[in-house]
Amino acid sequence: MKIKIALIGVGNCASALVQGLQYYGTRSGVDCVGLRNPVIGGFGCKDIEVVAAFDVDTRKVGKDVSEAIFAEPNNVPRMSDVPLCKVVVSKGPVLDGVGEYTKQVIHVSNSQDSNVAMVLKESDADMVVDLLPSGAVKASQWYAEQALISGCAFVNATPSFIASDVVWAQKFETAELPVVGDDLIDQVGATTLHKTLLQLLSMNGVHVTETYQLDVGGGTESLDTLGRTKDIKRSVKTQSIEAALPYKAAVVAGSTDYVDFLQNRRDSYFWIRGMHFCNVPMQIDLKLSTIDAPNAGSVLLDVVRAVKIALDRKLKGAVDPVCAYGFKHPPKLVSLEIGEEMFSLFLAADK
Ligand SMILES: NC(=O)c1ccc[n+]([C@@H]2O[C@H](COP(=O)([O-])OP(=O)(O)OC[C@H]3O[C@@H](n4cnc5c(N)ncnc54)[C@H](O)[C@@H]3O)[C@@H](O)[C@H]2O)c1
Repeated sequence: MKIKIALIGVGNCASALVQGLQYYGTRSGVDCVGLRNPVIGGFGCKDIEVVAAFDVDTRKVGKDVSEAIFAEPNNVPRMSDVPLCKVVVSKGPVLDGVGEYTKQVIHVSNSQDSNVAMVLKESDADMVVDLLPSGAVKASQWYAEQALISGCAFVNATPSFIASDVVWAQKFETAELPVVGDDLIDQVGATTLHKTLLQLLSMNGVHVTETYQLDVGGGTESLDTLGRTKDIKRSVKTQSIEAALPYKAAVVAGSTDYVDFLQNRRDSYFWIRGMHFCNVPMQIDLKLSTIDAPNAGSVLLDVVRAVKIALDRKLKGAVDPVCAYGFKHPPKLVSLEIGEEMFSLFLAADK
């Protein structure tokens, strides 16, 4: 049986996800390098199918998904050729999808908005995957409402609060649908690396006193972070990093700038200061360089398959083990280990 997904926003992350479905769809075993879980709950990547997609950019609306994922301003590298999907990108309402900075690069289509709930119903989508820009809070809420109307589960990769908001989680509970989020965690992202380092230091008796994590990138998402999303990103990342330490330290984590020639690359800088034996100070100064959107692919594929399991088990409301494993701002913040353990127990529950 196929897992049918609807993409909201055909940007860089959506491109990496669709390319990943093609790349891994025909591979197995050792050929699945870069994929954390080739199979989850009996589902491989070949079992995931895009059945609907929505965007607002004139270079994407009306195009087959296989073409739209490579249209500008997307700048994720071409990792796999994608054959015609036979799914055309529908126009969604713009709402707050385009920000002060991103209006320079997103060319809003003047086609008529589609009836999103109707398209979702007709496509028979199991779940809606929200990949809107991070500042599109109203748009994320609007699409969450459309998911509720059309009986779809909701995966919120954005930092808008949906799964972690009690009112929204309750709406999904009442509709007897699962919701997961918020703000997807990367496979080898700055947040994961930073938390792991802090946990390692703390486990070894180092008392971390101050730490920061700052990054620059060249994707549209980094452009959005210059303006309206700066504070929300900083707050979500800082809270997530703070949860890695069993005590309070001075933590700053956020995005700093947009560097267009980096394309979809993201450079993250970490600085950690702590005290080890006899209160002697120590310091770590590090840089991580990744391509942003592919970094989301592996976790997104895990989360999509886990949400299908949640649907099959008729779970409703926020699914805590999936939120804790795959997102920076779940309803209940936990350490990486606890998140992993909760997810493993969730997957093993049927066995
Ligand atoms: N590694 C990662 O890339 C990563 C990790 C964690 C979270 N996220 C989150 O995933 C989301 C997507 O990231 P991205 O890099 O793909 O962003 P992006 O800016 O490349 O893509 C967003 C897409 O949404 C479209 N859009 C804007 N308003 C819309 C509307 N009202 N309706 C439909 N489409 C609309 C844009 O045209 C664009 O195609 C962001 O919220 C980001 O914070 C990404």
